[in-house]
Amino acid sequence: MDDLDGFVAPDPAALGRVVTVLRETASTNDDARRAAAEGAPHGAVFVADAQTAGRGRLGRAWHSPPGDNLYVSILLRPSALARDMALLPLAAGLAIAEAVDEVTDVGATIKWPNDVLAGGRKLAGVLVEGALRGDRFQHVVVGVGVNVRGARPPDEVADLATTLYAATGRAPSRRAVLSRLLARFESHFNALELGRTDAIIAAVHARCVTLGRRVRVGVDEGVAASVEADGGLRVRFDDGSARTVHGSDGLRLIEPIPRAPLPQRGP
Ligand code: BTN
Repeated sequence: MDDLDGFVAPDPAALGRVVTVLRETASTNDDARRAAAEGAPHGAVFVADAQTAGRGRLGRAWHSPPGDNLYVSILLRPSALARDMALLPLAAGLAIAEAVDEVTDVGATIKWPNDVLAGGRKLAGVLVEGALRGDRFQHVVVGVGVNVRGARPPDEVADLATTLYAATGRAPSRRAVLSRLLARFESHFNALELGRTDAIIAAVHARCVTLGRRVRVGVDEGVAASVEADGGLRVRFDDGSARTVHGSDGLRLIEPIPRAPLPQRGP
């Protein structure tokens, strides 16, 4: 907990102006959602040392032991139309990749739709949950989990995952990662509020390891070509047609992303 206690965002414009640091909670996304219902402001941040019911995308659990990792949820109250926030999950993934690179120079990449990888293994994930009122969001909760200081990822995901420490041999403080994350994400969120998507898409393209790889969508095979302004993945199929895919559920990578070896487990 030491490196999260009393966390104050450095010079926050909006994100992190109000920060709640919790020793243990069920899920910071639930804390943020409840706070939203009670009127918490745009930019309120909930960060925990451990979660007892952390959750990931597609109904998966997010293993959340104490001490090593960052579990944070950011409450947003966008004024733009909900459809103009379609890039929000990718913008969050981009902000994580930029933040961890600033702190450790790990060379983070993005696997569409919004996983952050280091050495081809999952370093961080994003879970966005929102409540709509008409064509705008009443609120959006952006939940971020980053594996920071553990020597190795948990056994259940050890084959596919990594930590900043395992990938670089350096163990930065969670505080440093969170500070950079809030600053980068604030900048991308503000761009989305202004309807500016070009710079975000260009930066995602530069880091996205899904692009250029062979993929299967249902029974059709092709190549992942680009990320679109609505957050979808444009696939060019072998029969010459093209389609934009939303959500990774029906998408399979035929060409795997190469994985760097993990450090050996100690005695
Ligand atoms: C994924 O499946 O890749 C998304 C993982 C998101 C985990 C974070 S940890 C903080 C926040 N609270 C949760 O319960 N989930 C998100």
